[in-house]
Amino acid sequence: MSTVYLDGEYLPKEEAKVSVDDRGFVLSDGVYEVAAFYDGVPFYMDRHLERLRRGLEFMRIPYDIAGVPDIWQQLLVRNGIDGAPTSLVYMQITRGVAPRVHAFPKVPMTPTVYAFAKAWERPTPETWSKGFTAVTVPDRRWGRVDIKTICLLPNVLAQQAAQDAGADDCILVKDGVALESALQNFWAVIDGVAVTHPLTQDVLAGITRGVVLEVARANGIPVQERPIQLEELAAAEEVVFTGTTGEVRPCTNVDGRPVGDGKAGPVTRALSKAFRKHIERVLAQAHSGKA
Ligand code: PDD
Repeated sequence: MSTVYLDGEYLPKEEAKVSVDDRGFVLSDGVYEVAAFYDGVPFYMDRHLERLRRGLEFMRIPYDIAGVPDIWQQLLVRNGIDGAPTSLVYMQITRGVAPRVHAFPKVPMTPTVYAFAKAWERPTPETWSKGFTAVTVPDRRWGRVDIKTICLLPNVLAQQAAQDAGADDCILVKDGVALESALQNFWAVIDGVAVTHPLTQDVLAGITRGVVLEVARANGIPVQERPIQLEELAAAEEVVFTGTTGEVRPCTNVDGRPVGDGKAGPVTRALSKAFRKHIERVLAQAHSGKA
């Protein structure tokens, strides 16, 4: 039975209950974060916390994130996955419980804080090499998707559209530009350069995206941050997604057409290798710090 965190308590998931007046439930009034752990070691927790802090500040939800690292570690330990090779923590913070009005309630609010942890597994090398499929879907999200709100209905519908089309992922397209997926950042390899959308209000500043850019530069893999036009996508040599749970994920078929030779390509492989090596480095540093 999994142990979750709710408002200061660790308890069996079955016992965790939230009010029907919670503004997260009735209004999607909250933010969330998903962070990875490798062998129980947090991966760029500081960046996840900073994104969470910025989101809370934007939403004007008064919650001090100082205690969050301990909650996340505790969840891994209490669920017996602090030694799991790959695990993640999900946390969401809503404005709290109050009778339904649209504007912020005038009474002082106590945010509702919920978190769980679970292990996840990488795809097998065969599945990874074969790659994943995607379809383009219109981006119907709001204008501030750089804020990681729990208001995910357009993402849900886009992912369902992909599933209905028999694809694994979606590529959200706005004004002729391929932005990202419903839950990952998007890259296309064009003339040998791995291109991803710049950080604007139209994409989430993925932690994985940032780390992949850094390790690519450190390893001499050409990268560029600029918008990717839909027409360029049709001619892209490779297509890649990055995210906390997918890491570096090859996409080998878009809208029913193979990308390149239809297998994970050389730039994707180089990015993935550099990213995995970097994880090992982070782990080694954490272990030497503990010694
Ligand atoms: N998704 N873009 C969107 C729209 C996302 O929701 C996510 C994360 C990313 C990748 O960000 P990161 O590298 O920090 O995971 C990009 C999470 C994992 C989710 O919704 O489950």
